[in-house]
Amino acid sequence: MAASRNLFSLFHRHRVIPVEYLGPPSSALFSTQIVGDTPILVRDFIHKALYDPNVGYFSQKSASVGVLDSSIKFNRFEGRKAYMKHLDKIYKQSDVSWFTPVELFKPWYAHGIAESILRTTNLSVPLKIYEIGGGSGTCAKGILDYIKLNAPTRVYDNISYTSVEISSSLAAKQIQTVGEVESHLSKFRVEHRDATDRNGWGDVNEQPCWVIMLEVLDNLPHDLIYSENQTSPWMEVWVERKQGEKLSELYRPIEDSLIKSCIEILDMPDATAGGSRVSSAMKNIWAKVFPKPRWCWLPTGCMYYLLKFRNFYKFYMELYQRCL
Ligand SMILES: C[S@@+](CC[C@H](N)C(=O)[O-])C[C@H]1O[C@@H](n2cnc3c(N)ncnc32)[C@H](O)[C@@H]1O
Repeated sequence: MAASRNLFSLFHRHRVIPVEYLGPPSSALFSTQIVGDTPILVRDFIHKALYDPNVGYFSQKSASVGVLDSSIKFNRFEGRKAYMKHLDKIYKQSDVSWFTPVELFKPWYAHGIAESILRTTNLSVPLKIYEIGGGSGTCAKGILDYIKLNAPTRVYDNISYTSVEISSSLAAKQIQTVGEVESHLSKFRVEHRDATDRNGWGDVNEQPCWVIMLEVLDNLPHDLIYSENQTSPWMEVWVERKQGEKLSELYRPIEDSLIKSCIEILDMPDATAGGSRVSSAMKNIWAKVFPKPRWCWLPTGCMYYLLKFRNFYKFYMELYQRCL
């Protein structure tokens, strides 16, 4: 069975990737170039919309990650209301759609992470830090600054900080940000690649390391499943290009293994399960008479990453992640 619906309205209705977060829909974001002649799964569509080297949001916009010109002076605020007012002013003055916590609370947010690393790591071995999706490099710079000022010199001298960044413009921006302190540059390198590609990581290295990801797991592509009413089975959602230009959704029975395992892990209730035969017959009739279509976002990109890498980071795997 296949049916289609307008994709754009879905982005407005569902909460996992609110449209405000991505900024106003641009020709690049919803470019029909993203979808070729054959339909693609929603996660592949999102992946391309975000990271395609030519039309992707993070590749195209040099200011895709908001950067504050200077730190916010928190001690000058009288309270939360004053802070919110200031935030409002900052957003109005800037043309970026969002700032992340490490930017808004710079340098303190990164300093907090650095302090926690210093307190919990065996500093007799060289400190090895990986940051995935480092955005503008604010976290890397803050951590290196803090370690330079607060740790024994040998710890700073021997540190290795590797950033793995999918966007070429952000990779370049990170070198620029970290390079504001020249001595950091010999300790810092950026690998411009997709961190979810296992091949990029080479062999397992037994040396302890830290892995930092800020605002990344929830940025990994999601899938969407659909059910036409309260009792119909879930279908996987694909995106197709119709009549050359218009993008629409296509619903197919669930076959994708990632979607299947995500549904299993999330233990999503089957609407038809449970209850007597009479009550499920009633439910079916009710659903036919008053159908309520259902959609559900699945964090398949995040799940894929975590399943693939759970045995890879052998020692310290620290996910500083606000929400999933
Ligand atoms: C929302 S931004 C967060 C940036 C920064 N961590 C912060 O908190 O300000 C997401 C970042 O993750 C990067 N990213 C997303 N998926 C990635 C992947 N698969 N591999 C490497 N980097 C990725 C994006 O290019 C971007 O730099």
